[in-house]
Amino acid sequence: MVSGLHTLFGFLMSTSGEALLSQYMAQVRQEVDQALASVATYEKGCPAVLGDAIRHILLAPGKRLRPMLVLMASDACGNRSNATIASACAVEMIHTYSLIHDDLPAMDDDELRRGLPTVHVVYGEANAILAGDALLAQAFEVLARSQAPAPQVVRCLQELTEAAGPCQLVGGQVDDLQAENSVGDAQQLQAIHERKTGAMFRVSLRLGAIAAGANEEQIQRLDTYGKHLGLAFQIVDDLLDLQGDVAQLGKQTGKDDEHGKLTYPALMGVTESQEMAAGLINQACEQLEPFGESAEPLRQLAYFVLERNN
Ligand code: IPE
Ligand code: IPE
Ligand code: MG
Ligand code: MG
Ligand code: MG
Repeated sequence: MVSGLHTLFGFLMSTSGEALLSQYMAQVRQEVDQALASVATYEKGCPAVLGDAIRHILLAPGKRLRPMLVLMASDACGNRSNATIASACAVEMIHTYSLIHDDLPAMDDDELRRGLPTVHVVYGEANAILAGDALLAQAFEVLARSQAPAPQVVRCLQELTEAAGPCQLVGGQVDDLQAENSVGDAQQLQAIHERKTGAMFRVSLRLGAIAAGANEEQIQRLDTYGKHLGLAFQIVDDLLDLQGDVAQLGKQTGKDDEHGKLTYPALMGVTESQEMAAGLINQACEQLEPFGESAEPLRQLAYFVLERNN
């Protein structure tokens, strides 16, 4: 199964392109969903309410972009190892913890996520904080236990802890909150978006490449693709908060304005933000050229990020 999908992708691309590519995407997604479902099964000792709170949000219909990036990066580099699927689960678990905490009343105070009431609404604020804590810790456990060569696992752990840590995801979230109702500039905004959102995109690609045994040039190219993609993704997220549809998004809209968030549309307007996101997607895809056909899913994903409505 580890290398099965990669072989399948090669076969699909050699037969007939696009329709079959979406079959590859669907299979990648299914593999991620299955792995997450098995990770979120707890033995006795784990309080039932905690398992329920975790499954409520982890198994809800998220887009699974970050774990898909891990798998696609491994496939672009021509190989999967046991660290590939473990990394895919780990990044989705960390992302999901960040969503639980991001939605708390002390942060963005949101009541809808992935089309469902947020964890604190259903299970209470304390359980939501603790469900986030548990997912964060368990993400590293899943990766540490993967049956891959120890140096590879250690490097993945090191990179993931850094991306999730004080100077990246968490630092970006702190600065996002501090920037509320303040006058900010483009440099400050880019630094927030690159850390609160971009870091997890970048590390997803890096882990997929590392798990594949990629060389440093391949890792660097995928990292740069992830940097542009992550920033474009958050610009589109800001635009969707302004213009999106609640039912399609599965989360509330108009919240950035309500909280006085520093966002791209607030700072530079809708059209310029759209143009910037499109430019970043082109820059991201340029990095994929040396990978040829094996990076086709990453190209498709980049355009999905730009055009998405959820
Ligand atoms: C939402 O991320 C949080 C941001 C970084 C903007 P996603 O839009 O990827 O959320 P899910 O995983 O699909 O729910
Ligand atoms: C959140 O950004 C980034 C995270 C680290 C979760 P947002 O606050 O804009 O994400 P949404 O709009 O609530 O999904
Ligand atoms: Mg936020
Ligand atoms: Mg939010
Ligand atoms: Mg948002």
